[in-house]
Amino acid sequence: MIKVALIGAAGYTAKEFLELITRHEYLELDSIVSDSLTEGTTINSIWPRLSSRIEKKVQKKLNNKVDVALLAKSTSESQKYAVQLLAQGIRVVDLSAAFRLKDVDIYEKTYGETHQSKDLLADAVYGMPEIYRTNIREANLIANPGCYATSVILGSYPLFFHKIVDPKNVHVSAYSGISGAGIRNTDSTYSFVERNENITPYKILGHRHVPEINQELSSASESDISIAFVPHLAPLNKGISSTIFLEPKDSNQITATKIHQMYKEFYASEPFVRVLPLDNIPSISNVVSTNYCDVGIFYSNELGKIVISSVLDNMVKGAVGQAIQNINIMFGLEEKTGL
Ligand SMILES: NC(=O)c1ccc[n+]([C@@H]2O[C@H](COP(=O)([O-])OP(=O)(O)OC[C@H]3O[C@@H](n4cnc5c(N)ncnc54)[C@H](OP(=O)(O)O)[C@@H]3O)[C@@H](O)[C@H]2O)c1
Repeated sequence: MIKVALIGAAGYTAKEFLELITRHEYLELDSIVSDSLTEGTTINSIWPRLSSRIEKKVQKKLNNKVDVALLAKSTSESQKYAVQLLAQGIRVVDLSAAFRLKDVDIYEKTYGETHQSKDLLADAVYGMPEIYRTNIREANLIANPGCYATSVILGSYPLFFHKIVDPKNVHVSAYSGISGAGIRNTDSTYSFVERNENITPYKILGHRHVPEINQELSSASESDISIAFVPHLAPLNKGISSTIFLEPKDSNQITATKIHQMYKEFYASEPFVRVLPLDNIPSISNVVSTNYCDVGIFYSNELGKIVISSVLDNMVKGAVGQAIQNINIMFGLEEKTGL
């Protein structure tokens, strides 16, 4: 069995992780560490849904040597924990953005904080198995990708990899369920009255996931990508739907069938990316509580526009499902185990 510690217990991703780990046959939940909860707190007292499924109680400190720790914390807290855990020889999968950006200046500008463990950035592996599976196997520190970032990168990667779209013309309109903001966010923007029967854009052209998306798509296309990204809050608990608008470099060279075939081939052996039949429309309800990312492909030769629709569960493929997928790869397990 692979011994796992969960660091951070009182948040939404922690709850989702606990839910998934109870179904995993090779991961053993060794310790649950929390800063905000008192020592000895039972899991059923914070997450009644998990009542009688998890007996472990919350600890203030990690006392045991485990194989891997999942950090369900903020960026600054993750930076501190990662240093300590790695020094003890514990492999780390971090759900926060602390280690996703390779350029520390971009990180500090985007997150408005000084990076406290810059030295770890070079060795951190961006935990997207579809791109970095080989590096993930050997990694000690996984920077688990952001939820919006996962949907946009998986949704558009084949087009950038094959360099068939104009890198200066990438627009994304994305929609997220409210759990994406975390449990700590008590801003009235996230209240039921504001969100129910309502959809609003936010952080227009300034969302924190943009540098992460630009980093990965620029690397795929070997050119500078700078996307225009507009996220929206939707009246959903969970789920992300990203609609990506692109233009082909040469519309004479492509057809809808060719693009679709390119996606089918690119993701042929990927267990969690489902390329839908041409013109089929993805739906959040088909992926919620699963680790799938569903991708739909649309092309109008007349308009010279490619539209990709990419949907996933922000808490699963956008967070802890992808983290478990990474842990499975790191420890040589079958990638779909427990998912
Ligand atoms: N939500 C998503 O869809 C999503 C997706 C991808 C990545 N992420 C990232 O994953 C990380 C965790 O996300 P999350 O959604 O789980 O965040 P969250 O709900 O805000 O919880 C994060 C941590 O905050 C602490 N916390 C919770 N309530 C608290 C309180 N009242 N006072 C003080 N601390 C409290 C908990 O740690 P302790 O138990 O140690 O106090 C908890 O694990 C973040 O870095 C986030 O950006 C989130």
